[in-house]
Amino acid sequence: MKDIVNLCQNRWFVYPWSEIYGWLANSWDYGPYGSLLKENIKNLWMKEFIQKRMDVMLLDASLIMNPKVWEASWHVWGFADPLMDCKKCKERFRADKLIDSKIEAGATEPGWYAWDKTETSRLDEIVKELEISCPSCNAQNFSGIKKFNLMLKTFLWVTEDGASQAYLRPETAQGQFVDFTNVARSSRRKLPFGIAQVGKSFRNEITPGNFIFRTREFEQMEIEYFVTPGEDDAAFAIWKSESERFFTEVLGLKSENIRFTPIKQEELPHYSKQAGDFDYKYPFGWWEIETLANRTDYDLWAHMKASGQNLSYFDAVNNKRFLPYVIEPAMGLGRITLATLCDAYTVEETRTYLKLDPKVAPIKVWVLPIVKKLWEEAKRVYSLLSEDFVCEYDEVGSVGKRYARMDEIGTPFCVVIDSENYDAWNVTIRHRDSMEQEIVPITEINAYMKEKLR
Ligand code: GAP
Repeated sequence: MKDIVNLCQNRWFVYPWSEIYGWLANSWDYGPYGSLLKENIKNLWMKEFIQKRMDVMLLDASLIMNPKVWEASWHVWGFADPLMDCKKCKERFRADKLIDSKIEAGATEPGWYAWDKTETSRLDEIVKELEISCPSCNAQNFSGIKKFNLMLKTFLWVTEDGASQAYLRPETAQGQFVDFTNVARSSRRKLPFGIAQVGKSFRNEITPGNFIFRTREFEQMEIEYFVTPGEDDAAFAIWKSESERFFTEVLGLKSENIRFTPIKQEELPHYSKQAGDFDYKYPFGWWEIETLANRTDYDLWAHMKASGQNLSYFDAVNNKRFLPYVIEPAMGLGRITLATLCDAYTVEETRTYLKLDPKVAPIKVWVLPIVKKLWEEAKRVYSLLSEDFVCEYDEVGSVGKRYARMDEIGTPFCVVIDSENYDAWNVTIRHRDSMEQEIVPITEINAYMKEKLR
């Protein structure tokens, strides 16, 4: 992981945030290549799930919504982590995570009850019962457990004499529910259909970390797929295989590094009928990149109750009005970007490089003139290619060093301009993975690249 983080920082993928002011811990900026990589993943998600489907539409709801949204969704009361401090070393921990690890490490007899994660009143007792010690200093001396709300607060000046409290959204999801009737009415869609959002969410995570895996500011790609009750189980299965296809076939992640773990029935939140996590095998272990859930009609029901507005759907064929059920595939863009980087990180005897799928690679083509007298010609080739692809032009250093640079960034193709071939109106294309080279006429390079990057 340390090597991957180093490569990301040295090769302009990700930088520490506000570095000139000494960094804000666990906050990161995506640099020129990281931004393009993340953007490519987002665009592939939009292509697969919005462009290529007739039944999913895009929405861009506000980051700051009416605070009543978060009351109705229960985030104001329920979106909290149970935290406790070690009185000796003063480190802070999530009590539920320490209990989970202790149980996984075999601390309990088989048959010890699966503890209810929604019940926090018993947590203090369980921590004592399982003799949990501080992971940092080993002491068994914790403060009482307190719930800590994860929503980031802000203030809006709505009246002359006072501020009203609001929240930065902790998930993109509620926008789809709040706007459900608007979208359904204006698009005149019949069930089943989905509303998708991609954008920033904010959570005051107490234990951010593992590079860009868990951050306080992150991007989500979420679809709320509305179905007629009774058709929800089948829709869940379809979205499970669609997510799997996206990770392995579209992004090219190795299938052995992706797994789906169903959430046990007794651990499901009250609004959920079925759920599971897609995890990626990072160098620091298996961790969640997507949650897939059957949220029933809970969210529409909750907003209908709180707002007093009718959010039901009218089925004209059967002359029936009802609340649709919702299947929600919720992916984290930063986590998938990190998974993509880890998956592509390849160490060979003579080089280290990113074996990125060409579709996600931030730079598709790297244009290299061999000698100074061909700089202008190479720039013309760059202009030609950059009509269709994100390219980079590089005239500095030995060719070997330039290849090494483009390999580390994961650029699948290098276009090399040398005198002999240029005189015949040709260029040499060097392939990142095989390191093989082939001669291609300049008039055909755009078509050649298009074919390779499909
Ligand atoms: N609307 C459902 C929802 O938000 P979630 O499991 O809390 O579900 C969905 O979040 C996805 O968002 C996660 O699987 C993860 O990929 C990403 N995510 C959540 N919290 C994150 C954080 N603090 N940093 C980075 N990504 C996060």
